[in-house]
Amino acid sequence: MIDVLDRTAALAIAPELGEVFAAAFGAPGYDEEPDPGHFATDQLPTHADRDDFRLVAARSDGSVVGFAYGFTGQRGQWWSDRIANAVTPELADEWIGGHFEVVELAVRPDAQRNGLGAELMTALMAGLPHRRALLTTYSDDRPAPRLYRRLGWQLLVQDLGWGSALYGLDRGVPETR
Ligand SMILES: CC(C)(COP(=O)(O)OP(=O)(O)OC[C@H]1O[C@@H](n2cnc3c(N)ncnc32)[C@H](O)[C@@H]1OP(=O)(O)O)[C@@H](O)C(=O)NCCC(=O)NCCS
Repeated sequence: MIDVLDRTAALAIAPELGEVFAAAFGAPGYDEEPDPGHFATDQLPTHADRDDFRLVAARSDGSVVGFAYGFTGQRGQWWSDRIANAVTPELADEWIGGHFEVVELAVRPDAQRNGLGAELMTALMAGLPHRRALLTTYSDDRPAPRLYRRLGWQLLVQDLGWGSALYGLDRGVPETR
C-alpha cells in the first residue's frame, strides 16, 4: 500500500523514515554512512518546507518499508545551484528552476526486488503539473539508475564531477507555473 503524505504527515513519521533511509543507504556496497538522526531532524524538515513537497511511503504490516520524496526545485537552492554550475549553460537553462526534484528513494533491503521502488517513483510523479523533473543518482551500474532508465528518465550527464549522474524526465505536460 502506498500513501501520499504532505509535510505534516511526513514529519510525523520522520524517525521511522530515517530508519528506512539508513537501512537502504547503509547496505553493503553503498559505501555511505547514513545518519538517520540528521535525516529526520535536519534534511527532511528543511525539504518539507519547500514548494509542492510530497512524500510517498510504502507500508507492510503497518511499517514503512520504502519511501520517496521531492519538491519544486528553484535556483538559489543548494542542489539546483550546484547542478547548474556543473552542467552547460544551455542544459541549465532548459532544465533547472521550476523542475520537480526527486530527492530520495529508499527501500529497505529486505523489501527490495519486489517492484516497490518502481511503484514509489510512479506514485511520486503521478499527477504532478511539472513539465520537467530532475534527480541525481549513482554513475555506476546499480539498481537505482537502472530503475530510472526503465521508467523513462534520460541520462543528461554521466558524471557531474563527484561520481553522480544527472537524470531528467521531460513529462511533456504544459507548464502551469
Ligand atoms: C534503488 C532501490 C530504491 C530500488 O528498490 P526496489 O524496491 O528493489 O526496486 P524494484 O523492485 O522496482 O527494482 C529493483 C530490481 O528488482 C527487479 N524486480 C522487481 N520486481 C521483481 C520480482 N518480483 N522478482 C524479481 N526481481 C524483481 C527489477 O527488475 C530490478 O532489477 P534490476 O535492478 O536488475 O534492473 C533500492 O535498491 C534501494 O533502496 N537502494 C539503496 C538506496 C538507493 O540507491 N536509492 C536511490 C538513490 S538515487
